[in-house]
Amino acid sequence: MAKASPQFTCTECGAAHKKWAGKCDACGAWNSVVEEAPLTTGPASKTLGAAKGRRIELSTLATDEAPPPRTRSGMIEFDRVLGGGLVPASAILVGGDPGIGKSTLLLQAVANFARSGLKCLYISGEEASAQVRMRAGRLGLSEAPVQLGAETNLRNILTTLEAERPDLVVIDSIQTMWADMVEAAPGSVSQVRAAAHELVTFAKTRGVSVILVGHVTKEGQIAGPRVVEHMVDTVLYFEGERGHQFRILRAVKNRFGPASEIGVFEMTGAGLAEVANPSALFLSERGQAAPGSAVFAGIEGTRPVLTEIQALVAPSSLASPRRTVVGLDSGRVSTILAVLESRCGIPFTGLDVFLNVAGGMKVLEPAADLALAAALLSAREDVALPPDLVIFGEISLSAALRPVGQAENRLKEAEKLGFSQAIAPQGTKVEGGAGMRLRKLPDLVTFVGDMFGAG
Ligand code: TYD
Ligand code: MG
Repeated sequence: MAKASPQFTCTECGAAHKKWAGKCDACGAWNSVVEEAPLTTGPASKTLGAAKGRRIELSTLATDEAPPPRTRSGMIEFDRVLGGGLVPASAILVGGDPGIGKSTLLLQAVANFARSGLKCLYISGEEASAQVRMRAGRLGLSEAPVQLGAETNLRNILTTLEAERPDLVVIDSIQTMWADMVEAAPGSVSQVRAAAHELVTFAKTRGVSVILVGHVTKEGQIAGPRVVEHMVDTVLYFEGERGHQFRILRAVKNRFGPASEIGVFEMTGAGLAEVANPSALFLSERGQAAPGSAVFAGIEGTRPVLTEIQALVAPSSLASPRRTVVGLDSGRVSTILAVLESRCGIPFTGLDVFLNVAGGMKVLEPAADLALAAALLSAREDVALPPDLVIFGEISLSAALRPVGQAENRLKEAEKLGFSQAIAPQGTKVEGGAGMRLRKLPDLVTFVGDMFGAG
């Protein structure tokens, strides 16, 4: 048998390379290609040869089977992000920055699943059992029937799982796991990939649900190759700003429910508390009507969430002025600045622009375009928008306003929170009601004239 040649893999996109390179051809990332021990699984020869395999049993799409029973943890926000509870034999990846609260969230979730009757195991590779027990005590979860283990050796973990046959196991974290058949340090691409593969395969064949915890790199990706994200059924990100106590659990991939669903939590002294009404929370810091503030009526997953977009525009001393954007897509912001400049004749040259979503929320919907433009204009003109106004709509490159989905839900949520007027694109199918005055505008130029008496 020919000796397997070393293999190089990009840690960002998982692409395989024949030799080391400073830049990955596949995704363009720099310094991301690392050497990996060659995979030993798979056929030894290049072709499958003449030996016959077994015929696969094929079936039709129709089924008499009932959908798998989901188990609810009772943490409404967590269950919703999963798509309505935990599906048996599913593999879930929970990613997030170190210290954001992943271990806290999963300890609370696993305790709740155990209380609803699942046999649960929590394997910590980062903390000693005593540390986890101490945290459980502080969170008031000591009584929950969760089995706790501190281990990093994958072989020992799989042997334990085989003997215990739990319904759910949490692995905290996948970067600390170490498979002895792979000659690489824990946390390396090959180790993370091998450990995830073994655990996910175990989940599927033995009907055990696994939740893998993964740390996120500075670039915002789960450390190790993207491949782990492809292996699992559901990928959740736990995010939030360090200075804020709000935490958002976001589904970025879900084979068993809607993606982009969010759950909102608040970090308190006694662990994570669920936030049932996120709009009220995100708007709670809003004071008097101030220039540069616009309220966006957004949709996150299946539910409406109102957020405040804040802008500051100030004269710049730099040759290329600052564009600092937090919580919004910076590409989108550049596009809207260009549309304002070329279609509406409102230049931002020589001005620093700072944009932010209040409360540490991330808003990535194109429907936020109009609210974003409103915040920018309000800051630039130093004119406050009416405090009871919500805005939504997408802006096209021609400055036309495009209608967006779920207008009715957006308006209902706004009305519930005491807003009484809204601005939306012309084609919006809904009409305003008694408590909500809705104005529909065809393009950004009309909007500028309407709001600021210019353009
Ligand atoms: P942790 O769950 O350990 O984060 P991760 O597993 O993502 O690294 O959470 C760590 C932070 O959470 C730590 O800074 C303290 C804070 N925290 C609270 O504020 N209240 C609590 O009840 C707990 C358990 C943690
Ligand atoms: Mg942790």
